[in-house]
Amino acid sequence: MHKISGDCCDRCCSYVSHNPTDTIALGIQIGSVLFPRALVALIGELGAGKTCFVKGLAYGINQTPEHEVTSPTFTMLHEYCGTSTLYHFDAYRIREQTELEAIGFYDCLDWGGIIVVEWADRVLNSLPAQRLTVRFDVLGEHDRRISCVAHGQDYHPIIHKIWPFVNAV
Ligand SMILES: Nc1ncnc2c1ncn2[C@@H]1O[C@H](COP(=O)(O)OP(=O)(O)OP(=O)(O)O)[C@@H](O)[C@H]1O
Ligand SMILES: [Mg+2]
Repeated sequence: MHKISGDCCDRCCSYVSHNPTDTIALGIQIGSVLFPRALVALIGELGAGKTCFVKGLAYGINQTPEHEVTSPTFTMLHEYCGTSTLYHFDAYRIREQTELEAIGFYDCLDWGGIIVVEWADRVLNSLPAQRLTVRFDVLGEHDRRISCVAHGQDYHPIIHKIWPFVNAV
């Protein structure tokens, strides 16, 4: 893989992806260091690469093949089972906390799997304060800045663990 420019602090890191493969690779790295009950909140405009990133995340968590991961835009929830289950939510159409409850979000939090939420900015106040936030900024046709912020002590080690990858040549 070509050079991916990265930058890290104690609880945040930023990575520039040049294509979907880079984005999936970052997802795999993060997925492989997540812990049970972790919550990953994805923020970014249409087509920014959120679902692409989840393909990597699911592979890193329980080796779900990429083609099995698709956008839950209409069903709002997809589930990828394995050693640890990944619950993949899309909050694009959600406006209220009661809707989030209705689609089983809070139940999933109790079940001990890992949760990822696309369009998390639409329900941010309804999400647990402790989480990993991943923001996607479109820099160009294929370039995306992907910024991770660990909210809460439990999430800080994730940043430390992916640091070598983000800074790899
Ligand atoms: N560096 C990149 N990382 C991820 N996707 C990229 C990149 N460069 C180009 N793309 C393209 O951008 C699109 C990203 O689509 P994706 O479904 O992942 O976005 P999304 O953020 O989930 O959108 P939505 O808000 O509609 O759910 C794909 O068509 C992909 O091929
Ligand atoms: Mg999507």
